[in-house]
Amino acid sequence: MTGHVTVTDHGPIRILRLNRPDKKNALTDAMYETLSEALENAAVSKAIRCMVIAGGPAAFTAGADVQDFLHAAQHMEGLRPQAMRFLHRIAHAGKPLVAAVQGVAVGIGTTLLLHCDYVVAAVDARFSTPFVNLGLVPEAGSSLLMPRLMGPRRAFELLVMGHPFDADEAKALGLVNAVVPADEVEPEAMKAARRIAALPADAVAASRRLIRGSTAEIVRRIDEESEIFKQRLKSVEAKAAFEAFLGRKG
Ligand code: COA
Repeated sequence: MTGHVTVTDHGPIRILRLNRPDKKNALTDAMYETLSEALENAAVSKAIRCMVIAGGPAAFTAGADVQDFLHAAQHMEGLRPQAMRFLHRIAHAGKPLVAAVQGVAVGIGTTLLLHCDYVVAAVDARFSTPFVNLGLVPEAGSSLLMPRLMGPRRAFELLVMGHPFDADEAKALGLVNAVVPADEVEPEAMKAARRIAALPADAVAASRRLIRGSTAEIVRRIDEESEIFKQRLKSVEAKAAFEAFLGRKG
């Protein structure tokens, strides 16, 4: 566990909390590692029956750390293995996953919701997937799961045109189950998690597998996207976009 992600078990519910508020919970390698380990051992734990992923009041997460992207671009590397491990883990997640979203949810902050089973968002939560604006391509299987959820044209508007959207639109798109005042997000997410945890575990697991469809297909798409993402990371336009973001206050 790093200080930037805390993992706590409350009876059958495991809470994964992103806790890097000064950087809007931007995800570092160490954070990806802690999340992956927590997902991996929850998958084989008989005690854990549901997980909740939460951020803080101002940010669920502002996505991958752009500093890491710039490093990868400068050193001609691809997506870091830590990020890839996390993406595979989230696609395989063996236990139901509830998300509690407050503040900004950018990039993977929005696309990881496609892997969650139940999502609660604050009325003032803000979502965006500005991959193409950054010279990148969609990740986390979103090029498969987003069109499946909302149709190809709306997915294009979000994933390619980078259209930002609010909680009501997220609900209308099927990405969010419940929109509540900010101070009710976590209680509501915990209520849902307790309801899920109280259901017969094997029936929940079997139903999830049926609802989610082929994990192999999702993982294949994650790998396919990451090959292209790797090339894009090294592009002149991506490097310029990362430098512009990191240098914007200078
Ligand atoms: N990677 C690294 N640092 C990030 C970050 C990210 N993805 N998102 C935010 N931060 C840092 C900022 O650089 C800033 O650090 P500083 O105080 O040392 O300058 C701090 O977090 C606060 O962010 P700031 O931009 O000042 O907050 P804001 O409320 O004005 O804007 C966002 C919030 C999320 C809209 C804005 O930070 C943003 O656009 N972040 C980048 C999102 C992104 O492109 N993610 C990758 C998607 S693939």
